[in-house]
Amino acid sequence: MRMRNKYKKPTTFPCNAGSRCSTSTVVWSLVGFLLMLHLFSLFSHKDRAGGQMQLHKSHQPLFRELVEVEEENIQIPPPKGKRSPRAAKRRPKRTTTLIDEFLDENSQLRHVFFPNMKTAIDPMKDNGNDSFYYYPGRIWLDTDGAPIQAHGGGMLYDETSRTYYWYGEYKDGPTYHAHKKGAARVDIIGVGCYSSKDLWTWRNEGIVLAAEEIDETHDLYKLNVLERPKVVYNEKTGKYVMWMHIDDCNYTKASIGVAISDYPTGPFNYLYSKQPHTFDSRDMTIFKDDDGVAYLVYSSEDNSELHIGPLTSDYLDVTNVYRRVLVGQHREAPALFKHEGTYYMVTSGCTGWAPNEALVHAAELIMGPWETMGNPCIGGNKVSRLTTFFSQSTNVIPLPGLPGSYIFMADRWNPADLRDSRYIWLPLIVGGPADRPLDYNFGFPLWSRVSIYWHKKWRLPPR
Ligand code: GAL
Repeated sequence: MRMRNKYKKPTTFPCNAGSRCSTSTVVWSLVGFLLMLHLFSLFSHKDRAGGQMQLHKSHQPLFRELVEVEEENIQIPPPKGKRSPRAAKRRPKRTTTLIDEFLDENSQLRHVFFPNMKTAIDPMKDNGNDSFYYYPGRIWLDTDGAPIQAHGGGMLYDETSRTYYWYGEYKDGPTYHAHKKGAARVDIIGVGCYSSKDLWTWRNEGIVLAAEEIDETHDLYKLNVLERPKVVYNEKTGKYVMWMHIDDCNYTKASIGVAISDYPTGPFNYLYSKQPHTFDSRDMTIFKDDDGVAYLVYSSEDNSELHIGPLTSDYLDVTNVYRRVLVGQHREAPALFKHEGTYYMVTSGCTGWAPNEALVHAAELIMGPWETMGNPCIGGNKVSRLTTFFSQSTNVIPLPGLPGSYIFMADRWNPADLRDSRYIWLPLIVGGPADRPLDYNFGFPLWSRVSIYWHKKWRLPPR
């Protein structure tokens, strides 16, 4: 009797009781399955694109204006004065780039990146046809006629009063360097809060969390650092909870800080700081999901990766749960949003106050895995697309009634005079297939493209 080798791999697979299929049947079934998956993904994209088209149609012509590609050609002026023939021989002059011009506070192009007060957006004056227009980069005045001070900001929408609250770093003080090699800084003044019903006219609600002037041991002592404040409302406790990046002037404390208030307009009561999950934490944001669970997202391990973890149900602390994401990618300035069940995040690279290329990442579950989709910037020019239009992400706000449409909020930092940093608000649209095939879905585009459109001037479609 021949003994059957029970360890030998079978070349056929049991399909159902009493029948057996060959390897080729299995392979062909697999190919068929993949084909169907591809078709499904194509159709679902068509659907999404179709949805987008409907949106275009239903909000014509103003919505169409948002997604128009607007090129911006900025000419670099010739260098001032002639170089002597001897000097020209010694060292050929390096050609200046647009980034050099942006970073040079004496550049002849300064007015292009930081237009002066004469062009300020002033919602209180009679603007005629210019009402409600955003001019990214221009000085933006509040209802008292003062430049808005809400840098590295976040937005809270209060459903009951239908009011937006914009929180950010109030930086209206002198810029200086604490050490020769230290980053440019402004002493902590506090967190500024502005309110608006239309996202254009902003009323100053004052400093809702103020610096500590005397006690040097306090986290909010003016010589420390308070950045990127974000406020979320907790339905269970009825409290407004603020999270922020807390640091010393050398950025070695690398912690988060938490404050609480009964009102969106404060005053906020500062509670404590800590290193979340015992890790260093610098740029950060808070994202509140549809189910009421809020998450802390922070750059960690010396900004080489991001960590994401849920907050406790009162939003006053992190839990023990966290995931490391975008490991080794060196991203910061995270801004999260959710569209049709998918999570998206815009991040920047890590170059201090200097602008760099934005990237968009997507995930089916907020805890990951997160996939990098590419640069979302459209229009402007090559350099501006590679520098997030000379700015850095801070937040993304959904536009109610316009599914798939968001406002991308970014900071155009002015390290020579940080209080004069500008706001770059631009339309962010989700729709159409992603540029980059993604690794783990067989190269099929599963997620929609995220696009941030450059506009010299633009406005929201009327609701
Ligand atoms: C950036 C960061 C800003 C601020 C700055 C200081 O990388 O995004 O929030 O911390 O560095 O240089």
